[in-house]
Amino acid sequence: MAYHRPAIQGFTCHALRTARLLTLAGLGSLCLSTGAAAEQAKTLGQKTYEKTCIYCHEAGIGPELKGRQLPPEFFAIIVRSGLRAMPAFPQTHISDATLKELGQYLSTSPARVPASATSK
Ligand code: HEC
Repeated sequence: MAYHRPAIQGFTCHALRTARLLTLAGLGSLCLSTGAAAEQAKTLGQKTYEKTCIYCHEAGIGPELKGRQLPPEFFAIIVRSGLRAMPAFPQTHISDATLKELGQYLSTSPARVPASATSK
């Protein structure tokens, strides 16, 4: 019984591929490109900031980082060495490449609108 499986799987895959090619080609590529666009909407720098920094830096624990045009190198130095209450993040946590993008994202991001300003 088991040795029939590869043949059945092969047939199923082939049938699916054919169906996709014949009838779903347009729809399939539309789905793919929509998913890719949603994934690309957030840059690596933004994703890292939201995952690693936001819970202190937008919670009143650490100072505002956005909208100050701080140079990317400044973020790199503070992130690698830490600053008093702020922990250092080593290369194994945030890679050099990610840190570069994070610094670029923060140094070019506009100041955020405080929650108190929008809730009125
Ligand atoms: C556990 C909380 C915490 C996390 C997480 C954190 N920080 Fe901080 N950060 C702080 C605190 C607190 C300070 C202020 C330290 C001080 O001046 O005593 C600070 C200061 C800074 C400063 C200096 C700002 C200034 O005006 O001097 C930078 C730059 C910075 N953090 C970047 C980051 C980045 C980028 C991340 C994410 C990778 C991050 N921090 C994650 C708590 C945190």
